[in-house]
Amino acid sequence: MSAATTTAGTAAGGRAPAAPSGIRFDNVSVAYGENVVLDSFDLTVEPGEVMALLGPSGSGKTTALRAVAGFVRPCAGRVLIGGRDVTGLPPHRRGIGMVVQQYALFPHLRVEDNVAFGLKARRGRTASRAETAARVAEALEMTGMAAYARRHPRELSGGQQQRVAIARALAIRPGVLLLDEPLSALDTRLRSGMLAELARLHRDLPDVSVLYVTHDQVEALTLADRIAVMDRARLRDCGTPQDLYRRPRTEFTASFVGNANLLPVTAGPDGTADFAGTRLTVTPAEGAAPGASATLCVRPHLVGLGDGPNTLHGRVTEVQWRGATHRVYADVAGHRVMADLRELRTTPEHGSDITLHFAAEDAVLLPAGAGSTDDE
Ligand SMILES: Nc1ncnc2c1ncn2[C@@H]1O[C@H](COP(=O)(O)OP(=O)(O)O)[C@@H](O)[C@H]1O
Ligand SMILES: [Mg+2]
Repeated sequence: MSAATTTAGTAAGGRAPAAPSGIRFDNVSVAYGENVVLDSFDLTVEPGEVMALLGPSGSGKTTALRAVAGFVRPCAGRVLIGGRDVTGLPPHRRGIGMVVQQYALFPHLRVEDNVAFGLKARRGRTASRAETAARVAEALEMTGMAAYARRHPRELSGGQQQRVAIARALAIRPGVLLLDEPLSALDTRLRSGMLAELARLHRDLPDVSVLYVTHDQVEALTLADRIAVMDRARLRDCGTPQDLYRRPRTEFTASFVGNANLLPVTAGPDGTADFAGTRLTVTPAEGAAPGASATLCVRPHLVGLGDGPNTLHGRVTEVQWRGATHRVYADVAGHRVMADLRELRTTPEHGSDITLHFAAEDAVLLPAGAGSTDDE
């Protein structure tokens, strides 16, 4: 494994590769009393894959993660790691490393002892002192914290503390790494630096499967091989970032992954749709038969100024200057349409007429209400 070349102190002949693991949720449900907070959850994370669990607060992301870790017990279904059913196993026997939002370091222990803690805590697997020291050095090296081994957590910044928490998770050489909003306690600038760090770390550990919980679409789009979109205890969508962005299958995904115009339309024949009396050419959806109500998803940055294949005439209601773009809000027959326009010489005036267009391939038809109201 490539990490062996970048780490020091592996006297025992280099870093043993983690067994390729992968995670599988097999129809997992979790309930607190009457309250089902994870509902028939089915998801497979391939060995070495980074899967983001993306959803609003309270949608069940942490619960799903804790079900893998073994801290909550499903009322139905199974959790498999590396093909093995671990549903009945205690957390320390699952071969997972976990990092949570608030670092959770022991304040009275030095960095190196914090990192060693996970190793010592694993009952029945007592590593020798030399082995422990080598693993701690390796984990601190990987996270860029080797120079801080003797410090206490209070002597570290938030970002450094989170690196130590990651080192602690890696020290056990987990096959599966669980990260629960690991960057949310950091300020914006630190966060983007840590995002790049996490991406590098995963390149160094290509066999480790990662489940990354976040409510931040930028983190999910940046880091994940695939994104699982959650809402109200359910999996709503799953795909590569590009897939979900370009071809969302539900309104929920369209609005949660990136910005979207969601226009109420009536599906027409042959890749057409009627919006406010205008016939548009669109990318058709399954389940939107001619005559049916549907929603048209168009990304604001794919809306252009002037005439085009699909032309809308409206009136400017608001303009926000955003440096590289102008975000223009237009009223088109009573509906709000957003356009992120580049390289405008002059800022459109409030109340002025505006003509906008978009290409058929950038206009994705969705069955109305898909994914947002199906269980209410
Ligand atoms: N220990 C608990 N007891 C009762 N309800 C809980 C418990 N943990 C979480 N919940 C509830 O489960 C739902 C999902 O929570 P959680 O998985 O933490 O969501 P997320 O991580 O997406 O914000 C929430 O409604 C939350 O209030
Ligand atoms: Mg959570």
